[in-house]
Amino acid sequence: MSSILNRRDWLKSGLLASTGIVLGQSSPALAARPTSFGVLDVYAEREMELAQEALLAAAPQIKARLSSNENPWGPSPAAIKAISEAAPKAFLYAGAITMELRKAIAEMNGVTPDQVLLGAGSSELLMASLMMAATKGKVMIAETCYISGRDAREDGATMKMDRVPLTKDYQYDLDTMSTRVNAETALIYICNPNNPTGVMLPSEKLKSFCDTVSPKSTVLVDEAYIDYAPTPATDSMVECVRKGQNVLILRTLSKLHGFAGLRIGYALGQPALLKDLRKYCSGGFTVSTTSAAAAIASFKDKAFQEMVLKNTLESKKFLYDTLKAMDYKYLPSSANFVLFPIKMKGQMLLQKMMAEGVSVRSWSFDQQDWCRVSIGTMDEMKAFKEAFAKSIS
Ligand SMILES: Cc1ncc(COP(=O)(O)O)c(C=O)c1O
Repeated sequence: MSSILNRRDWLKSGLLASTGIVLGQSSPALAARPTSFGVLDVYAEREMELAQEALLAAAPQIKARLSSNENPWGPSPAAIKAISEAAPKAFLYAGAITMELRKAIAEMNGVTPDQVLLGAGSSELLMASLMMAATKGKVMIAETCYISGRDAREDGATMKMDRVPLTKDYQYDLDTMSTRVNAETALIYICNPNNPTGVMLPSEKLKSFCDTVSPKSTVLVDEAYIDYAPTPATDSMVECVRKGQNVLILRTLSKLHGFAGLRIGYALGQPALLKDLRKYCSGGFTVSTTSAAAAIASFKDKAFQEMVLKNTLESKKFLYDTLKAMDYKYLPSSANFVLFPIKMKGQMLLQKMMAEGVSVRSWSFDQQDWCRVSIGTMDEMKAFKEAFAKSIS
């Protein structure tokens, strides 16, 4: 079965027909664009999240929301001020301010503005990258990583995923990935630090992987959590973009900047690749005036960022100590969440925790159920400790 989407496949999905889009009259970019519906069942995933939101809202008393790796200290007061100052101008389409944001991101990263593409969160850009890759060939991912749950459809409109297991110490197996790359590999997805493990690759190793592999396939490095890494500037693969390599970096302000509800993300890559990627985005108007202004202000607020990192480390240490005292092992994390193996079914733990007013996530891999706890305020971590003790007794 072909992994490449073609026009007939999309029509087969019935979606274009139902939305009334006539391919003959659409632009070449639109004609080249598979529908997200045909590639990945993103809406099913979103529905699951919304169902969890509904459960959260209905929970007796939510004490700690530790399920989505949000940042409870954000957004920065400077960002909130910028939103209210920008709001009166929000009747205008966000042209100039998004150019300003692009320029600021380019300067911060030592690249040119045409090496920056903005999105409404990095999800938009990640989805676009996967759709773009699906028209070309296979996507190589690690099993387990952030997108391992987003499966392709089985009915012909298929995006093929080449899944490479993590190593025994839950690292990306870059050696095996390197040897598995072939002419069909359109994109290699590396999440660093990885979600849900929190494990990070040594930067020299990942750089050398990019050196070897990027001439054969685009390497996408999802750096959603890079701000929590020990030395983000050198841990990032942005240097590969500066060197002109076929490496695409995705970043988000949802984490360190506390922008999960404001929706700002960006891609760094070669101009030609970003031009291609743009065809799969939503037309350039997804970033709002208020969020763009907030992002510019937040980047400047270094004191806020330091406060978040300090508090995250404190809460993470409390969580580590809690787990150790309860005789639970955990994976040391370079992000704002911690994954640890549990001694009961994940769903059972989730329900028990929810009944105590604490939301967490569960995973099942490596013949083991795991719990992922996002880092929250100290009060939230104490609520986790209490709820977890009750749930496992
Ligand atoms: C690894 C990773 N990438 C991308 C995203 C998407 O983030 P957003 O769309 O909020 O920018 C997330 C969200 O949690 C994530 O964990």
